[in-house]
Amino acid sequence: MSDILRRGRLSKNPGEEMRAYTSSMEADEWIFEADVYVDMAHTLMLHEQEIISADDCSKILFGLLQIKEEGMEMLDFSYEDIHISLESRLIDIIGEEAGGRMHSGRSRNDEVATCIRFALRSELLSMLEDLMKLENALTRLASDHFNTLMPGFTHLQHAQPTTFAHHLTAHADAIERDIFRIISAYGRVNICPLGSAAFASTGFPIDRYTTAERLGFSAPMTNSMDAVSSRDFLIECAAAFSNIMINLSRMAEELILWSSQEFNFIELDDAYASTSSIMPQKKNPDTAELMRGKSGTVVGSLSALLTICKGLPLSYNRDLQEATPHIIKSAHVTAASVRMMTGIMETLTVHEDVMKEKAVEGFTTATELADTMVRDAGIPFRTAHQIVGTLSKTTTTPSLNEIDSVSTEVLGYKLSDKGLTEEAVAGALDPMSNVKRRAVIGGPAPTQMRDDLSDKKKRLSAL
Ligand code: ARG
Repeated sequence: MSDILRRGRLSKNPGEEMRAYTSSMEADEWIFEADVYVDMAHTLMLHEQEIISADDCSKILFGLLQIKEEGMEMLDFSYEDIHISLESRLIDIIGEEAGGRMHSGRSRNDEVATCIRFALRSELLSMLEDLMKLENALTRLASDHFNTLMPGFTHLQHAQPTTFAHHLTAHADAIERDIFRIISAYGRVNICPLGSAAFASTGFPIDRYTTAERLGFSAPMTNSMDAVSSRDFLIECAAAFSNIMINLSRMAEELILWSSQEFNFIELDDAYASTSSIMPQKKNPDTAELMRGKSGTVVGSLSALLTICKGLPLSYNRDLQEATPHIIKSAHVTAASVRMMTGIMETLTVHEDVMKEKAVEGFTTATELADTMVRDAGIPFRTAHQIVGTLSKTTTTPSLNEIDSVSTEVLGYKLSDKGLTEEAVAGALDPMSNVKRRAVIGGPAPTQMRDDLSDKKKRLSAL
């Protein structure tokens, strides 16, 4: 092999191990198409700026089209990266007289940064679509469960009654923030480093606006040193992916808990379950468990990216090559997880009867009972908290008589003498009236949930 890169300055080819150690060819599959487009845009611009002839330009474009058709398999994988192996293939096809002119006025440093941004852009766009589908699946399921009572938890202890719609919408709201984080990151990914060359730009009269525009970027990146050496856009995206995965992992954790015999709130569709090789009766929530596990993989990628970039002097350093596989992996794992969660939500069986039955277990109506004492008998909330707390040690459904006897101990008088009625107590102990009363913005009352979901729909359709 006559290595078009090493034949000048270096007199030895690398050994197999050095080649494998330094090569990015495997990860570069992700930027193969991007690299062809970047080469095309650069070549066209070189001709428009009269840096190369029309004839050379058309030869190069012809060669690039052929390379795109042939696919990456035809490239020489013994080169250290896609850029140089693609250039070498071009020279094989059209000769060095024309092919050797393509790299004028640029370096692999601006080339790779441009390719990564180009490929990541598509990942972000398809992830946005996936996230919107997930938010839709969550809100669609929520719309079926405005009146499905369930216990709400704090500290994983039964706390107050709520509805399944309220719970699902909480997750949908988190996913909506993820959507906006990706949209925001997209703006900073979609700028073009091409033309920054090694770091100092170039003396050729290139037109960076044209290449940026042709490749669909919103603008060229300004400082050429920054353009080749910054990977904060990768860190930012991996942080957004990590956030998504943390949200999914929390949902997965609930699915795992809720599908246990102890909760029995839901059942995953068989398509998202696994079984045991020894215990024939088992139906396991493996998909959700793996999602919880894969969140660790994505957070690991973020951590790797941060650590790789930390301490790098300006401008380009080869360490940066090590960053690319982490963004590819984290983007792919995140997108697959989002799609998996959408499928799980679309096929979930909800055990409404169990949820409803459990909605009052553990005296979840205690807060409303204390609130009712404040409203109807005019006592301070802290005193009501003490009375209901005392009652809760022996009952979860106190009668007015029982309330009166504790209030007499605590306050020296009966709350029934101050306006608390049996009817009001019964209302406070009813989980559905608890929920209906919580009709402030963001509350679980079915009327409020309906409004919140219709606002959400409007926000999403405006995107
Ligand atoms: N494969 C390298 C990367 O991913 C290409 C960039 C330039 N290489 C170089 N030695 N200057 O970063």
